[in-house]
Amino acid sequence: MLSLGVLCSGRGSNLQAILDACADGSLPAQVKVVISNKPDAQALTRAAAAGIPSVVVDKQDYPHRLDYDTRLLEILTHAGVEVVVLAGFMRLLSPVLLDPFQDRILNVHPALLPSFAGLDAQQQTLDRRVTIAGCTVHLVDEGMDTGPIVAQAAVPVLPGDDRERLAARILRQEHRLMVEVLRWMAAGLVRTERDGQKVTVHVDGKPRAFWADEP
Ligand code: GRF
Repeated sequence: MLSLGVLCSGRGSNLQAILDACADGSLPAQVKVVISNKPDAQALTRAAAAGIPSVVVDKQDYPHRLDYDTRLLEILTHAGVEVVVLAGFMRLLSPVLLDPFQDRILNVHPALLPSFAGLDAQQQTLDRRVTIAGCTVHLVDEGMDTGPIVAQAAVPVLPGDDRERLAARILRQEHRLMVEVLRWMAAGLVRTERDGQKVTVHVDGKPRAFWADEP
């Protein structure tokens, strides 16, 4: 059983996908704690409904980034978390957290990185008139959406798409892809290789690219 800590800032639909997969036995993991930087995040309601402890860590109480991350580290360590998932967590992390959890922090981003990093990737995707969109699960480093890629799922951009329609199509794949990568983590299939600053991810025996041809 993999012990997870999930960090959220809002809606928490990726958290929900993880909770559902844990509950139906398709993901051999347990969410030990949910942390939100926003007291009104819907993710907190989802955690409560699933009986999972949650903590709000408000930046007003920890104005310095290192103190903030030290608090996150305390909570995650105390809860016995092995792998951390950023599920719509709108903050960058410092080495205070990254070092002790090296290669054990995942983020999901609603674009095919390195294209369209940062905010509102779905609108960036539409604005650029590309024909293939998607999502990426990657290991987290200090940058914004810059860490080594673990897996990607692509979806078409269809005629008539607006932001909501495209975002919904991508989101369905985010939910699938994050749960799939967590299964790989639970099975010990994800390895990293370091060559100086360069980090390469290997996933033993699994395809890491998916094409979802759905409306
Ligand atoms: C997702 O689109 C995720 O890729 C991005 O933020 C959104 C969070 O959605 N990083 P939710 O809170 O999981 O519903």
